[in-house]
Amino acid sequence: MDHFTYQQDSLFAEGCSVAELAKTHGTPLYIYSRATLERHWNAFNNAVANHPHLICYAVKANSNLAVLNVLARLGSGFDIVSGGELARVIAAGGDPKKVVFSGVGKTIAEMEQALNIGIYCFNVESSAELELLNDVAGKLGKVAPISLRVNPDVDAGTHPYISTGLKENKFGIAMDEAEQVFARAQALPHLAIKGVDCHIGSQLTEMQPFLDAMDRMLALIDRLAVNGIEIKHFDVGGGLGVPYDDETPPHPDVYAAALLERLGDRPLKLIFEPGRAIAANAGIFVTEVLSLKENSDKRFAIVDGAMNDLIRPSLYSAWQNIIPVQLTSAPSYEYDVVGPVCETGDFLGKNRQLNVQAGDLLAVRSSGAYGFVMASNYNSRPRVAEVMVDQDLHQVIREREKLEQLWQGEHLLP
Ligand code: LLP
Repeated sequence: MDHFTYQQDSLFAEGCSVAELAKTHGTPLYIYSRATLERHWNAFNNAVANHPHLICYAVKANSNLAVLNVLARLGSGFDIVSGGELARVIAAGGDPKKVVFSGVGKTIAEMEQALNIGIYCFNVESSAELELLNDVAGKLGKVAPISLRVNPDVDAGTHPYISTGLKENKFGIAMDEAEQVFARAQALPHLAIKGVDCHIGSQLTEMQPFLDAMDRMLALIDRLAVNGIEIKHFDVGGGLGVPYDDETPPHPDVYAAALLERLGDRPLKLIFEPGRAIAANAGIFVTEVLSLKENSDKRFAIVDGAMNDLIRPSLYSAWQNIIPVQLTSAPSYEYDVVGPVCETGDFLGKNRQLNVQAGDLLAVRSSGAYGFVMASNYNSRPRVAEVMVDQDLHQVIREREKLEQLWQGEHLLP
């Protein structure tokens, strides 16, 4: 559930009129709802309330400082994949002691940064990374807390670009090598084994792949215990899907209850890395219709937002609902909603039944995750502004880029 609803045929974000926000701040515009972000985070946190746990919001989903700060105030931890994300967490007032560091390609500089700040855990993805981290920690006179990301080889049944738990994917350590790599980790002096982690993919709408992964990971944890390697936490990753259309992903309550049942009486702290489930439906992307165009086959609504602002439809053929900001009863037609970028793949939605005129505003729903963070300046388009609403108040949380910022740092030849 979110807080984007119609009041007298006009779309509101909590207590703020979307049309008013667009008028004040221009379009295209991302609008986030604080109450929705908090509701989703609390849904996760409450689902595991009676078991030791840490919710580490996946920063990559939406890394705006205000978003991170809202979650930090709830007590959230953070799952990061770069030194940049770590710096953002700190700048937003997040607690580094609740940070897990994922990712297949951590640099020495990033390892040093995280060791000096003192994060909760490194999620190590390969033997090579294990050796490197041990060296880096040794040189700093520190011991790095680690988990090994093990690839459980389950098919998440999601889009191939966002499926990560299969043998053929680049992520994690193969299950049949895991015990050997743990034994090596135990022998290295500058590492302390804390946990095991996995992440099998994103936008999962069924429980079964999570349960299959959990069974395989718990069996590994049990085998490790027999061999004297004690695991303190199990990080189940992120990946819980959201309703973009008519999908019915499990509620965090159902998801957590099923995992806790599998866990049994093992005294493991559970770590969750949800990104999309917290942020996606806490945001909309608002765009204005520039003009309508028709040929013998198709009608196009040409809007001011484009693939550089919101790439999910172009990149993954992702479907996100497109709704009018003002409802009217005029007849509707089927449109492709396309942007001004010079690419055939530049669309926000295809074959959408809409009743629109030039000058109307449309809202692309579920845009709070993997929206602004994946934006680029392609076609020299400044990145758009972001606004967060909090009941009937709102705040610009990122200003619209100015044209001069487009070439900031560029230099002419002498
Ligand atoms: N943990 C790890 C290690 C991850 O790789 C990811 C996402 C997450 C947590 C968070 O997953 P979530 O709960 O958000 O599903 N850009 C794509 C999604 C890429 C996800 C990458 N990894 C999209 O727009 O659909």
